[in-house]
Amino acid sequence: MERLLENKICIITGAAQGIGREIARRFAEDGAIVYACDRQEFTSHNERIHPLVFDITDAAAVKAAMMQVFKAEGRIDVLVNNAGVVFNRKIGMILREETELMFRINVIAVLELIQLVSRLMARNRGGSIVNIASVTAVLGSPGQVAYSATKGAIIAMTKSAAKELAPQGIRVNAVAPGIVKTERFAELYEANGEKIDERISRIALGRLGTPEDIANACSFLASNRASYISGHILGVDGCASI
Ligand SMILES: NC(=O)c1ccc[n+]([C@@H]2O[C@H](COP(=O)([O-])OP(=O)(O)OC[C@H]3O[C@@H](n4cnc5c(N)ncnc54)[C@H](O)[C@@H]3O)[C@@H](O)[C@H]2O)c1
Repeated sequence: MERLLENKICIITGAAQGIGREIARRFAEDGAIVYACDRQEFTSHNERIHPLVFDITDAAAVKAAMMQVFKAEGRIDVLVNNAGVVFNRKIGMILREETELMFRINVIAVLELIQLVSRLMARNRGGSIVNIASVTAVLGSPGQVAYSATKGAIIAMTKSAAKELAPQGIRVNAVAPGIVKTERFAELYEANGEKIDERISRIALGRLGTPEDIANACSFLASNRASYISGHILGVDGCASI
């Protein structure tokens, strides 16, 4: 049986660690040729995963990297906008520099990647874009007013881009993860001594998400099996409530 992403040329941002690293691994296992992008240097022992090091807020570097892939492969089939940063602060403690940085990375860089890559996808009459949002944009979360605004922007952007790019055969969807156990999770929750059991008690399926849960959803949305799905926000959150 043909694998889900057989020979699809896929760009994944923020792929050095956490959810992005697992998306790269899943996609490679599903047959994709993966360009795994991150601002951190990293290595891959998987011959289908090619690391590319650049910062997604550096427009010239982004363009050079995307053109490098397009010239080498002749097309780009999939873009996963996963790179993102979070600063958790209660309203009174929000710092403008952190908020601006979150908007630059989580929103403006994503918008510009969609702008650039959709032009390249259109040359081959199609593609699939998957943006990583967050459950916090849908349900809200104390301490994440600024961060959730960036992810709310991702949801709005996904829906409008889906409508605008549909005539070119480009689908745009988002995955909205709940709390996922990654390196960042350890930093944010365990170090702060936050009561994680309380958070888990509000997840109907009774456990935290794993990077694999998110990667599986991305693989499906990126694949031709989702060929009639666009503008959709897929919650992968174990049926969480506030
Ligand atoms: N972990 C969670 O609980 C959770 C929940 C909901 C949504 N998300 C979202 O999922 C995505 C991945 O989260 P994660 O937990 O794996 O985060 P992470 O911090 O572990 O990994 C993010 C990766 O993105 C890279 N990155 C950050 N800024 C970059 C930039 N400007 N240019 C290039 N690379 C950059 C980092 O170097 C890092 O490797 C993020 O968009 C995040 O907001 C995570």
